[in-house]
Amino acid sequence: MSEEAFLQRTANCGALRAQDEGRTVVLNGWVHRDRNHGALHFINLRDRYGITQVVVDDDADPALQAAAAALKLEYCIAVEGVVRRRPPEMVNHDMPTGDVEVKAQKIEVLSQCAVLPFMIEDENNAKEDLRLKYRYLDLRGRGMTDRIVLRHKIVKAIREYFYKTDFLEIETPTLIRSTPEGARDFLVPSRIYPGRFFALPQSPQLYKQLLMVSGMDKYFQIARCYRDEDPRGDRQLEFTQLDIEMSFVKRDDVLELIEDLFNDVFKRVLDEDLPKHFRRLSYNDAMNSYGSDKPDLRFGLEMHDFTFAEACSFNAFTEALAKGGAVKYLVAPRSDKQDFTRKYITALEDAAKVYGAHGLAWMKVQDGHLTGGVTKFFADKESDILAETGAKEGDMILIVAHENWKKCCNSLGAVRNRLGADLGLIGDGYAFCWIIDFPLFEYNEDEGHWEAAHHMFSMPQAEYIDKLEEDPGAVKGDLYDLVLNGYELASGSIRIHDIELQKRIFRICNFSDEQAQERFGFLLDAFRFSPPPHGGIAPGIDRLCMIVSKVNTIREVIAFPKNTAAMSPMDECPATVEQNQLDELHLAVNLPKEAE
Ligand code: AMO
Repeated sequence: MSEEAFLQRTANCGALRAQDEGRTVVLNGWVHRDRNHGALHFINLRDRYGITQVVVDDDADPALQAAAAALKLEYCIAVEGVVRRRPPEMVNHDMPTGDVEVKAQKIEVLSQCAVLPFMIEDENNAKEDLRLKYRYLDLRGRGMTDRIVLRHKIVKAIREYFYKTDFLEIETPTLIRSTPEGARDFLVPSRIYPGRFFALPQSPQLYKQLLMVSGMDKYFQIARCYRDEDPRGDRQLEFTQLDIEMSFVKRDDVLELIEDLFNDVFKRVLDEDLPKHFRRLSYNDAMNSYGSDKPDLRFGLEMHDFTFAEACSFNAFTEALAKGGAVKYLVAPRSDKQDFTRKYITALEDAAKVYGAHGLAWMKVQDGHLTGGVTKFFADKESDILAETGAKEGDMILIVAHENWKKCCNSLGAVRNRLGADLGLIGDGYAFCWIIDFPLFEYNEDEGHWEAAHHMFSMPQAEYIDKLEEDPGAVKGDLYDLVLNGYELASGSIRIHDIELQKRIFRICNFSDEQAQERFGFLLDAFRFSPPPHGGIAPGIDRLCMIVSKVNTIREVIAFPKNTAAMSPMDECPATVEQNQLDELHLAVNLPKEAE
């Protein structure tokens, strides 16, 4: 078999240093930039590892000169030449290879490049859909390459951590039974069993629990998960979790494992020292103080109850309290980054309204007094308010009242986040925290029944087990989320391993015994065979990589993501299929009127 000969590299484009002076090398790569100074050609040759400057001297052989002149951006080429030091005034301290250049002796074009849809830059400013249509080109840019390399290092470090322990890496199926887990399933029709469907796993949840019944004791997997939900900045239809499950553990064993894992990975990959243990906040405290169950703790700006609301003459406040709601405030500190204009207050109000706030009340401190907004209702309380809130000259007190405590917290929490960004309060670094003591159930207003806040396999805290049915809304679960810089990074729980308790949870979530048997029969069956106490957690790899890469969508850390409209502009999927494929699956497509 004969292979096409080409000048094969002896060094990559990021490798050469001053000590390589005099070496004859071959580089393979892409023409990143190309400058001519008369007959002198400078070519910046790029590959994944870096950029090296190649020079065709003005006294070079005319054939070489001609070859250099014929190069265009992004041509894939081979260059043979001699490494030489750059003259001192030409050293480029911004490039690791900046001390040297390669004096070209031979140039071979390995392949030409069509007209580019965009320049290959460190960060590509083209429209995202264009970037995604030509993602293979977009990935050539330094920023994307670096992020994909960082992702690789993180996943590698995670695997190395677990390989040093007793954990087993076990694959679980991706064609599974459709089992409700919160989001909508992607379905896969079966050809062999017409009319029947597999589902793609929303997570390996049930399989990892079954592995505990099998006695596997400690399991992990870097698992692909699929959820048919609307994409957002931190959500994709398919994403990757580090999935973990452990037998004979209590909550703190899981939390401590994750703390140790992240300490190890952050140190090795980013040289960051994290606190050995992460702060823990109960769900109620997180909501009350930060207005979110995924608070960004890189800044303070804590929220408090506005105690002056109780006996005031402002109806919006007293009514909210009378209906069992809450009135909460925070103090926005005077800032040279942002004036507290009417327009800005309206912008903050709009942020609050997204979460259901009816409005945003405010008072400013000016010349030592409260002014503006709702001040007139509190004229006699001025000094008490100033003392209790600690508001100082130029600060603004912002207040949300709502008959629903959660909406009150979330609305003011949105204002807090907006202020954090606009006033430049968000510090660098990594603020990890655990949110614990979540409610086990949430009421689904649309469907009129309780459902699991996390998933139906999570254990209620012991003190609630006897009276789950009496007041599901009051039940706290053995649930935990790991939050990093305002994002939910991981979720997990101690699981139910008692068949009767599991059935009670199904019933509260509106699954009759028959429905539960039909959907989860295999799990209930397995629980008849001495399941161990167990628990686990699943950090999202995409979100982790997004946060450490300091970008604001997970699309920036995924090689081939779907776009914001849930499709792939590159291979144009989802796409229609041939009629014979549908026929084989016994499927007929029944389009809604507007999609025809
Ligand atoms: P949960 O559904 O909370 O828990 O998911 C765990 C973590 O996975 C990430 N994640 C996502 N990342 C990108 N796109 C999405 N659409 C998406 N959805 C979730 C988040 C999230 O914190 N089986 C349980 C875990 C367990 O109990 O062990 C589960 O999947 O980072």
